[in-house]
Amino acid sequence: MTKGALVASALVTAEAETPARGAGRLRVAERAGVAWDEAGTVVFVGDAADLPWPATHGSPDVGCIAPGFVDCHTHLPFVGWRADEFQARLEGLTYRDVAGEGGGIARSSRLLAAASDDEVLAFCRPIVHEMAAHGTTALELKTGYGLSVEAELRQARLARALSDLAPQTCTVTLLACHAVPAGMSRADWVRAACEELIPAAAAGGLADAVDIYVEDIAFDLDDLARVADAAAAAGLPLRCHADQLGASGAAEAAVALGARSADHLNHTGEAGVAALGAGTTAAVLLPASTFFLREGAPPAGALREAGAAIAIATDCNPGTSPVCSMPEAIAMACTLYRMDPRSALVAATATPAWVLGLDDQLGRIETGLRADLILLDEPDVAMIPYRPGHDPVVATFVGGERVF
Ligand code: NIG
Ligand code: FE
Repeated sequence: MTKGALVASALVTAEAETPARGAGRLRVAERAGVAWDEAGTVVFVGDAADLPWPATHGSPDVGCIAPGFVDCHTHLPFVGWRADEFQARLEGLTYRDVAGEGGGIARSSRLLAAASDDEVLAFCRPIVHEMAAHGTTALELKTGYGLSVEAELRQARLARALSDLAPQTCTVTLLACHAVPAGMSRADWVRAACEELIPAAAAGGLADAVDIYVEDIAFDLDDLARVADAAAAAGLPLRCHADQLGASGAAEAAVALGARSADHLNHTGEAGVAALGAGTTAAVLLPASTFFLREGAPPAGALREAGAAIAIATDCNPGTSPVCSMPEAIAMACTLYRMDPRSALVAATATPAWVLGLDDQLGRIETGLRADLILLDEPDVAMIPYRPGHDPVVATFVGGERVF
C-alpha cells in the first residue's frame, strides 16, 4: 500500500453523531482534499491547497468526494435470479402467491442447495464487484436461504468466503428465521434456530448479527422474542425484517427488544414511528423492494420528524430487489419516500455504518477513519437521485486502494 490523496471541487460527509437522527447533518466543503497514509487511514481532510503531499487522484475543479456507500441490508450470498417470478407478478400474482406456490425463498434455498460452493462464489463475485463500481465500500451479507441448521451454517461460511473475495469490508448476519423449512413446524424450526443454529454460528465466529423475518407468511412476535433472547445469549446484535407486507407491531417490538435495526417498515404505524424516534433502533428503508413489489411507502417523513436514525440499503436479493446499486436505492428513496438528497447521503453512509457496528472505522470522512471514499462526477449530491440510471461514481477507494 502506498499513501495517496484525492482532490475534488467539493467534499461531503456526515457529521460525527452515533447515529445521526432525523434528517442528519451533512458537512459540505469546497475545493477539498483527503490524504491517507500507507495503512489506508485518513490523515488529512481539508482545503485541497493544504494537502500534506500532492494529489494522486482527482482534480480540484471537478466532482465531489464522498464517503463510500455502506449497504447494510443485502441477501448475498445467493445463487440464481428469479425473473420468471417477476414476470408472474407483473401478470397479477403477489409475492405471497409466489411464496405459497413453492417459489420465493424456498426456491432460492433449493438453488443454493443444488450449487457447489465454487458455483455460489462464482455467481456472487461479479455482483460485489458491480457494487464496488456503484460506490459500495462496505456491505452486509446474510444467510436465510439455508433453511436447515447445516445449510444455514454453510451459507454463513460461504458469506465469510465471499467476504475474503470481495474488495469491500463485509459483515455477516445470520437470518436464522426467514421461512419455515418444508416438513417442519414453525415452532420446531424456531427451537432449532435458537438452540442449535444461533449458538453454533456464534461459537464458530460465523455471524456478526442475527435477523428474523416477521410477517404473516413467516414468523410472529413470539418468535421474535425467542430469537432476541438467543441472539443476546450469543452476544450478537438483533435485526428484524418488520412490517414489509403488512402491519404486525414488529417495529415497536424490535425497539423494545433493543434491536440494532428494524428494516422495511412499509406498513409501520404511529406506535412504531414513535418507538423508533425515541429508541436506539435504526429504521432501515429498502426502497428498491418497495418499487419492485409496488408496496406502499414507509412513513419516512414521520420517522424523520420523530428523530429516528434512518438508513437506506438495497436489500439485494433475487425476489424483492434484484438491485445492487446504492445510487439507485438513493434515487428511489428520494422520489418514492420524498427524502432530501443530503439526508439520503447520511442514510447511505454514516448511519448504515453504525447499523453494522463499523462506525468507528468507516462511513464518514475523518482523520483516523479508513480511506473508504468515492469520487462523484458532480459536486452537488442532489445529482445522484436526480439522474436515476446514470452512475455518478467515477472512482471507488477501499482503505486507500482504488477498487474501481
Ligand atoms: O427482504 N421478505 C423477506 N426477505 C427478502 C426477500 C427474500 C426473497 O424473496 O428471496 C426481503 O425482501
Ligand atoms: Fe431483506
